[in-house]
Amino acid sequence: MNDRQKIEQRLRQLRDTLNRHNYLYYALDAPEIPDSEYDRLFRELQELEAQHPELLTRDSPSQRVGGAPLKEFGEVRHAVPMLSLDNAFADDEVRAFDARVRERLQIHAPVTYVGEPKLDGLAISLIYEHGVLAHGATRGDGAVGEDVTPNVRTVGSIPLRLHGSGHPEVLEVRGEVYMPKKAFAELNRRQDEHGDKAFANPRNAAAGSLRQLDSHVTAERNLEFFAYAWGEVQGGTLPQAHSQVLARFHDWGLRTNRENHAVQGADGCLGYFHKMAAKRAALPYQIDGVVYKVDRLDWQQRLGFVARAPRWAIAHKFPAEEATTRLKAVEFQVGRSGALTPVARLEPVFVGGATVSNATLHNMDEIARKDVRVGDTVIVRRAGDVIPEVAGVVLSRRPPNARAVQVPDRCPVCGARVERETRERQKQGKTVIEELAAWRCTGRLSCPAQLAQAIMHFAGRRALDIDGLGEKLVQQLIETQLLHSPADIFALTHAQLAGLDRMGDKSADNLLAAIAKSKTTSLARFLYALGIPEVGEVTAQTLAGHFGSLDALRRAALHYMGKLEQARDTQDKVQVKALAHETLRQVPDIGPEVAASIAEFFREPHNQSVLKALHAAGVRWTEGAPRTLGTGRLGGKTFVLTGTLAGMGREAAKQRIQALGGKVSGSVSQKTDYLVVGAEPGSKLTEARKLGIRELNEAQLQELLQP
Ligand code: IVH
Repeated sequence: MNDRQKIEQRLRQLRDTLNRHNYLYYALDAPEIPDSEYDRLFRELQELEAQHPELLTRDSPSQRVGGAPLKEFGEVRHAVPMLSLDNAFADDEVRAFDARVRERLQIHAPVTYVGEPKLDGLAISLIYEHGVLAHGATRGDGAVGEDVTPNVRTVGSIPLRLHGSGHPEVLEVRGEVYMPKKAFAELNRRQDEHGDKAFANPRNAAAGSLRQLDSHVTAERNLEFFAYAWGEVQGGTLPQAHSQVLARFHDWGLRTNRENHAVQGADGCLGYFHKMAAKRAALPYQIDGVVYKVDRLDWQQRLGFVARAPRWAIAHKFPAEEATTRLKAVEFQVGRSGALTPVARLEPVFVGGATVSNATLHNMDEIARKDVRVGDTVIVRRAGDVIPEVAGVVLSRRPPNARAVQVPDRCPVCGARVERETRERQKQGKTVIEELAAWRCTGRLSCPAQLAQAIMHFAGRRALDIDGLGEKLVQQLIETQLLHSPADIFALTHAQLAGLDRMGDKSADNLLAAIAKSKTTSLARFLYALGIPEVGEVTAQTLAGHFGSLDALRRAALHYMGKLEQARDTQDKVQVKALAHETLRQVPDIGPEVAASIAEFFREPHNQSVLKALHAAGVRWTEGAPRTLGTGRLGGKTFVLTGTLAGMGREAAKQRIQALGGKVSGSVSQKTDYLVVGAEPGSKLTEARKLGIRELNEAQLQELLQP
């Protein structure tokens, strides 16, 4: 292929690609690539065509404004073509625009421009006849648009009749229909709920909502409108400056943007740009830049138009917030709570004004939802100060060797097992275990990533209560390698502490005294301090009361470990939980979640060594006699509850029976000693009667429970 053939081939490629993306964007409202990528391809096409004007074709995408109208809507030919805007991305492109304007007008003094937010919606034309809204149309390809009159009528901020007087007989108002950020989030939430595809951005959502064959759908979408231009004017006149026309529009009840501002020269424009960039995040609608328009209309006229855009206006775009790049790898970071966050390692890409090589993938569910694979071309989003994220995948560019993302078995920081978080839920009377989006390192006390949080918890007021061991200090102690586990707290010396930032002799003394004092504690506090997942203060008290000693608890926890292991091999989560429950379930209020968590904690060798180290450091807790089954007043007796216990409630009844050593079972059998019958009893009553089991009403139960 010679050079010329290569250029022709590239032009064909660019035109085909751009035509395809135009179709996806305009006709289907479902773009596949970010705007920045489209702009880049478009610029390449424009530049190649400028260098080789003889290769320009009439049907090149560079020669038209937007998309072709959809067949389903009636066509509207615009009396005055609806143009697009040229874009500037850098300050010197804005200065060059201003220089061109002054050059053409032969003016040396600064030109007055109107700066306006560039709304990210879709351009619309509204024809008012004698002040009454008669037609509404999209821009379409600039010459012919779609008739969307019934839909436009549903937009609250579009007046059906103009206020005041002095309107031209025919007035074509132009502006932007857009979807506020809040409405966009709400719409996508609903789409998700109904299993429908989310809209890529508020502009596509606005376009999709306005181009509905059923205007009831449009009406539900909370669209809004700002007027910023006009087309046909008959039987009347408008003022002589853009800013004055906007003021008149405002008087006529048309919504104009209060952020619009007259500015002087290129410096004024750039000042406006920076002001709006700072305001952007706080605006209730999305903007992708600002627009500068020569204010004087006679000057606008003298400047005129080029192919698809006026010479008197330019859009100054914010740095693109989205770009595409290749996903090289996915690594996992461990947060302070042990949660694993997948992080995308990217081919560096310039986006949102900075070079980005890492982005968050949030969690495994998000990865699955977006179907992200290593090797994919992904869309990276960086908006303002927000952490860059992988917003999606360009599926059409997936290489054949793209690999699925896998969660590591072991924590990348400490090597402990990684587990998916689960939650128990009641479904049709059955307990089901639901898997959640987060994966967690089970290392806890032994995982350096989780150490700071674990130590803060350990030293907390309701745990070992070490006064003066605050977050900043803990972080310093970890950074300086003085703390590797909670046990190290008890080895800290005066010399080590006094040498730290903002630590004097006196505070070091106070802290050492608080540490010494904390060594004597209760078993409940100590258990709580360990930070075993699912073991809060109340559970810690229950466990302490039931087992009496740490050793007894540990033995119970480890008892079923072999079986647990077997179950784990079968990957059967439900069975694992059930077995763990079996181990510890003689303890009132310990459900399978909690039981599994406790077992898991004692199984982890690192945690066992931390426990040994704490004991060796002199931490002591008061131990009591275990309150084992069968020793209470109701020891050995099995109760079954049915119906509503209006006075004390079933849960309280259960607890009080258990506190006295009784057992509460869920179903009636030969072993049942008492059936407690509340209001509206269930089938258990019939069964109990068949077996001749003794019945108690609520009052009788109360009596039995009396001390
Ligand atoms: S003026 C002849 N003003 O940007 C000039 N357009 O990229 C007509 N847009 O089609 C457009 N905010 O959809 C103008 N304040 C604003 C705008 C604005 C958003 C959109 C509009 C236009 C596109 C051009």
